[in-house]
Amino acid sequence: MRINIFKFIIAIIIIAFAFSSCQSTNQDKTIKADSSENSRSKWWKEAIVYQIYPRSFKDANGDGIGDLKGIISKLDYIKSLGINAVWLNPIYSSPNDDNGYDISDYRNIMKEFGTMQDFDSLISGMHQRGIKLVMDLVVNHSSDEHDWFKQSRSSRANPYRNYYHWWDAERGKPPYRYSLFDINHYAWKYDSPTNAYYLHYFSRKQPDLNWENPKVRQEVFDIMKFWANKGIDGFRLDAFQFVAKDTTFPAFPNGFEKDFVKYYGIGPHLHDYLHEMNNEVLSKYDVMSVAEGAGNSFADAHDLVDSNRKELNMAYAFDGVDIANSKGYSLLHFKEVFTRWDSAFADNGWLSIFLANHDQARMVSRFGNDSPAFREPSSKMLTTFIMTMRGTPYYYNGDELGMSNAGFTKIEDYRDMPTLNEYQHQKNIGGDIQKFMKEIQFSCRDNGRTPFQWDSSTNAGFSTGTPWIKVNPNYKTINAAAEENDVNSCLNYFRKIVKLRKDNPVLVYGKYELLDKTNPNVYAYTRTLAGKKFLVLLNFTSKSSSANTGIDLNKARLLIDNYAESSTGGMLKPYEAMVYDISL
Ligand code: NOJ
Repeated sequence: MRINIFKFIIAIIIIAFAFSSCQSTNQDKTIKADSSENSRSKWWKEAIVYQIYPRSFKDANGDGIGDLKGIISKLDYIKSLGINAVWLNPIYSSPNDDNGYDISDYRNIMKEFGTMQDFDSLISGMHQRGIKLVMDLVVNHSSDEHDWFKQSRSSRANPYRNYYHWWDAERGKPPYRYSLFDINHYAWKYDSPTNAYYLHYFSRKQPDLNWENPKVRQEVFDIMKFWANKGIDGFRLDAFQFVAKDTTFPAFPNGFEKDFVKYYGIGPHLHDYLHEMNNEVLSKYDVMSVAEGAGNSFADAHDLVDSNRKELNMAYAFDGVDIANSKGYSLLHFKEVFTRWDSAFADNGWLSIFLANHDQARMVSRFGNDSPAFREPSSKMLTTFIMTMRGTPYYYNGDELGMSNAGFTKIEDYRDMPTLNEYQHQKNIGGDIQKFMKEIQFSCRDNGRTPFQWDSSTNAGFSTGTPWIKVNPNYKTINAAAEENDVNSCLNYFRKIVKLRKDNPVLVYGKYELLDKTNPNVYAYTRTLAGKKFLVLLNFTSKSSSANTGIDLNKARLLIDNYAESSTGGMLKPYEAMVYDISL
């Protein structure tokens, strides 16, 4: 059984992600003009979350792998961005089959990343700077090197046996389950010591935990308390929509894997488990929570985050990021998706807004235009979109520099396990390798994982050793040091637009309204709150374009523009982004 690489990559994206946090100063403030649930201030709604991929951010000890001390050394840079929360990808002990998403000890730090002391310094350094910390919670599966699994696989009578899903071989072959990362896409792995199969939706080294076992849930809640007591400010629940399973493992229809979220997502009792988690942990700390994935419908997404249900704070849905593929995408589709999601959450429930993360290729290469002429304006335009929509922005490290796809052409340069497995799978089945290589050049998540480009020195200033993955050769010109000194750089634009969002609650809580809906080139919308009204105009094309908004721009006050010389008369330059105050 297999699906094509495009669907496979989409699948990885769907599995994915996200969360948030910030300053708790406005915790109880209520914006009076609007009495809906969504007008109620919360720090996690006002947060601007900056996602750090620790392996690729900054290496302090020269082993070629980013680490906690590296992040600590860059805290002033992070603070200078103006963001107020960081989401850190997993830093726990791990054999790194999936770069930390395979955890072997939930209460320890991965050796390559440092020590618990480093972690304590990191969190206190962040808090001193007013930055909250959101951590990944990866509990759909553990590593096969976790002690629980070692015990579980050792005998059928072991007390940890039911921590995982087993199918005894004398029952015959288990019903087919699709694995996203397995070389054959087969999610049951035969394990000879006990003559049984175990389930792994991801790789063979990521066995799925059995959430139906109350002991497993208690273990997870204890782990969460451990980190909450250390002072973290939030949890991003990895692949969480998949945790609940019908353990009778009924047969699914042939080809179900093409739409596997429908079969794997929001399983029986998921909401009970979340409710229990809320009751046991989330409600007892000032932490935010967001699950990766939002089910199959708006109803599913609402059920996860409607505040009266007491489950999670925020939904992280993939419809938006899934729009772009190597053939491009249509702006009309993009507008339709983001508008649909906004209206479904207009009064109740809260969304995450993002165009990239560690499971995606670079934002500017997928949604913008990474050619030398347009990389800068298109990257800033996309940043403007993220920072002016309703929902909590999640912004991926390096996008503030306009970092673009490395686009490796040799398989030896790739590091991503599912990509390497799929390459081998394609070879095994005689697939079209050239086509596969072309596809991953554009869409592989390694594109978003190349080292952060700090300066023009060796290895972009990321490491004095050999980086675990190659640096994008464009680092000589695209790097933080160069952009620091250029008032018009992507970096300095990012700081300006972050400040604009922080200074204007209308950009956080304001009602969103789409204008000129059928315009295929320009995305135009307003945000309105308590007498304030902002107009956002975004040209998504490499040609001059205009929007028919019916708004007289002569009376409007321009707040920000991604070009040093702004357009006048309503015609936008290629990828121009303008935000106006049109309050009367
Ligand atoms: C989603 C994570 O974002 C991704 O990086 C990881 O590979 C899978 N979950 C499995 O944990």
